[in-house]
Amino acid sequence: SDSKATNIKWHDGTVSRTDRQRLLRQRGVTLWFTGLSGAGKSTIACLVEQMLLDRGRLAYRLDGDNVRHGLNKNLGFSAEDRAENIRRIGEVARLFTDAGVIVLASFVSPYRRDRDAVRELMPAGDFVEVYIEVSLAGAEKRDPKGLYKKARAGEIKNFTGIDDPYEPPEKPEIVLQTENLSPQEAAARVLEHLEKHGYLA
Ligand code: PPS
Repeated sequence: SDSKATNIKWHDGTVSRTDRQRLLRQRGVTLWFTGLSGAGKSTIACLVEQMLLDRGRLAYRLDGDNVRHGLNKNLGFSAEDRAENIRRIGEVARLFTDAGVIVLASFVSPYRRDRDAVRELMPAGDFVEVYIEVSLAGAEKRDPKGLYKKARAGEIKNFTGIDDPYEPPEKPEIVLQTENLSPQEAAARVLEHLEKHGYLA
């Protein structure tokens, strides 16, 4: 590994993931929402969080607002910084998932290899990729934060979809086309997937 620390050793406790899951009466999993800015990632994640709470399940959202203001406040939007952003979030998601929590991670996460690296980090079945699909025209029309307008005016550089790439997932577990689905319908699809695949058993 590329760890800089030496003389460190993993310490196993006596409490297992299975013990925690029994206590919480749920299975931990990471739902990874990826898509263009303005696609609807956070809106859908919020609805899923509420729907899970209403069913007595503990979920926790990770998104740009709570992560880029704290843990990752030293990172910008270069390809390198986005990779490090996603890498750290992936490690946090892995820990929460191991703790037994349903993690709702919403990040543009434009690079396939960064998302795939998170998938590889986690035990099989713990990572569910949710592609929030929208056309660039659709996202730009919404422009909830006025960022596309600024990017078009050259006031923001390296804006995803404008002058920076977005690589759509090749085999996402879930695809939600937000130009054809309401946020409520999209969130319901996520719940259906979790139920169908035994995550809420
Ligand atoms: S990434 O690519 O996954 O590291 O990005 P993320 O942490 O999700 O942050 C994306 C949000 O930051 C705002 N923003 C930008 N997005 C894309 N490109 C550039 N250059 C940029 N600068 C700022 C933008 O509001 C994104 O928020 P969402 O919620 O996705 O609209």
